[in-house]
Amino acid sequence: MESLKLGSLEVWPPVVLAPMAGITNAPFRTLCREQGGGLFVCEMITTRALVERNAKTLKMIRFDPSERPRSIQLYGVDPVTVGRAVRMIAEEDLADHVDLNFGCPVPKVTRRGGGSALPYKRNLLRAILREAVRNAGTLPVTMKMRKGIDDDHLTYLDAGRIAVEEGVAAVALHGRTAVQHYGGTADWQAIARLKEAVTDIPVLGNGDIWSAADALRMMAETGCDGVVVGRGCLGRPWLFRDLAAACEGGEERVRPLLGEVAATMDRHATLLAECFGSEQHAVADFRKHVGWYLKGFTVGADLRRRLATSETLAGLREGLAELDPVQPWPDGADAPRGKTHPRDRVHLPVGWLDDPYDLAVPGAEAELDTSGG
Ligand SMILES: Cc1cc2nc3c(=O)[nH]c(=O)nc-3n(C[C@H](O)[C@H](O)[C@H](O)COP(=O)(O)O)c2cc1C
Repeated sequence: MESLKLGSLEVWPPVVLAPMAGITNAPFRTLCREQGGGLFVCEMITTRALVERNAKTLKMIRFDPSERPRSIQLYGVDPVTVGRAVRMIAEEDLADHVDLNFGCPVPKVTRRGGGSALPYKRNLLRAILREAVRNAGTLPVTMKMRKGIDDDHLTYLDAGRIAVEEGVAAVALHGRTAVQHYGGTADWQAIARLKEAVTDIPVLGNGDIWSAADALRMMAETGCDGVVVGRGCLGRPWLFRDLAAACEGGEERVRPLLGEVAATMDRHATLLAECFGSEQHAVADFRKHVGWYLKGFTVGADLRRRLATSETLAGLREGLAELDPVQPWPDGADAPRGKTHPRDRVHLPVGWLDDPYDLAVPGAEAELDTSGG
């Protein structure tokens, strides 16, 4: 297995933490980075908010001094604004890598022509990629996308070709269409087809990697140059240790006792409090992680509820102290986690599918949602 080459950036192992809005902030990335190497992408940042120097947005792109490479995912619909955002990152040395998100399936965004609706407009996609690369200096720019809007409107092969032509450093494919949302299973054959079609730059595969064995299988079955891991690491940052070991040819598999999981939960919430500068905000934000950390373990409903509704770090720790520290890692803990639901349709602007080549830029509202991919 070879390291992943993104322009001048070399990443070993060829493993990427998928950007996940509301999840892959600096504290979560720290927990993952401590386990193994790779590229750990921050939460999605909207380009308008960045160029306007929105205070919350600037906080979201703060990196721990030990974090290298620093990777920012941008989302934007306007070539000029995307270009300005990338230039700002390059000139002010805010990151070492920029990823562009074209996979968001949220109705609020696709209804305005943003997110996973956008690659259907080939020329607009090209214009965004061109402006991003032109303003990036030496920073590698990558793109992350879905297969298309639905099975009748697949865009990923065209998008891959356009990415190569515009100087993008790598393309990542989530093997689902927008209408699939997170339902069904990811189509790894599409990743293989993209790899056949795109020979000049690395192709990264994404979707349904729940274990290191899945990662190896995806690489073997599709020929992809690296893997992007999302939901599989929710409540399981140690998956990155397994992934690193597997890439080195080892068989190591981390199966922490419940006491070790509790210690990680404590650390996660503590890091969030430091990062947010607010214990209350941190504990509230941590609630969504509780179920993922405890998945498969035998923990009473009352204690689970108390852990998920704590209002202070002290309250959270009191609950964590009640967990059975020697309870072993259960098989059920390796099960899929996070969103799994499909949609029945993709909301698009009126007439969106009529002309794949028109260059009209969606309005600013297409950037309002920040809930991700
Ligand atoms: C909570 C959540 C937030 C997400 N946010 C983003 C995002 O901001 N940008 C993005 O490109 N993808 C986002 N995604 C999609 C993931 O990056 C990934 O493509 C998807 O989960 C499929 O990979 P997986 O099967 O390994 O989870 C998000 C996914 C989840 C579950």
